[in-house]
Amino acid sequence: MTDPLVVVAATANDHKLSEMNAVFGDAVELRSRPAGVPEVVENAGTFVGNARLKAMVIARASGQPALADDSGLEVDALGGAPGVESAYFGGGDHDDGANRERVLRELVDTPDTARTARFRTVMVLRWPDGREIVAEGTCEGHIARVETGDQGFGYDPLFVPVEGDGRSFGEHSAAEKNAISHRSRACAALLAAIGTN
Ligand code: IMP
Repeated sequence: MTDPLVVVAATANDHKLSEMNAVFGDAVELRSRPAGVPEVVENAGTFVGNARLKAMVIARASGQPALADDSGLEVDALGGAPGVESAYFGGGDHDDGANRERVLRELVDTPDTARTARFRTVMVLRWPDGREIVAEGTCEGHIARVETGDQGFGYDPLFVPVEGDGRSFGEHSAAEKNAISHRSRACAALLAAIGTN
């Protein structure tokens, strides 16, 4: 067996880390973010730009390859919003309840057939010398009219994946979500790219 690639994770979000670890298995060993590294202002305006900003800061601080992801929800009827503003769409900072409320409010007159949406994750694995791998994953679905379930985080209780039985991600176990999620697909794409690098 080859040694795992040791990578420092930019995120401290336990949900994200366990979703990533489930896909990476023994191929990548995720280390936690070094203490004392300041939060990065995510102002690049794109998922890839924000992920790159985070990965660069951690790679520089740790001297090791760093992995950062940036994700969000894109609602077609809202022109792709909340997109890169997903974390603070409702006005607060990572106020998941307020974020979901605003999406529901803005879609109140949108018919069921036009409530299509997707989650998108972009991952940047960046080495201290500036080499990088970019990988992306999406999960298509639609926005429900009411929240259901208490699993996952963020917009999960509103998002009903196409590849499912009508339950929201909030009603999916971690393993069920992992099988089809944007983040696990980005991780799988990243693993494939590492293998060919
Ligand atoms: P981040 O910038 O990758 O942390 O993601 C920004 C925001 O997108 C989060 O605060 C969540 O509101 C939302 N988000 C990202 N991934 C997911 C997911 O898997 N489920 C639900 N919401 C998500």
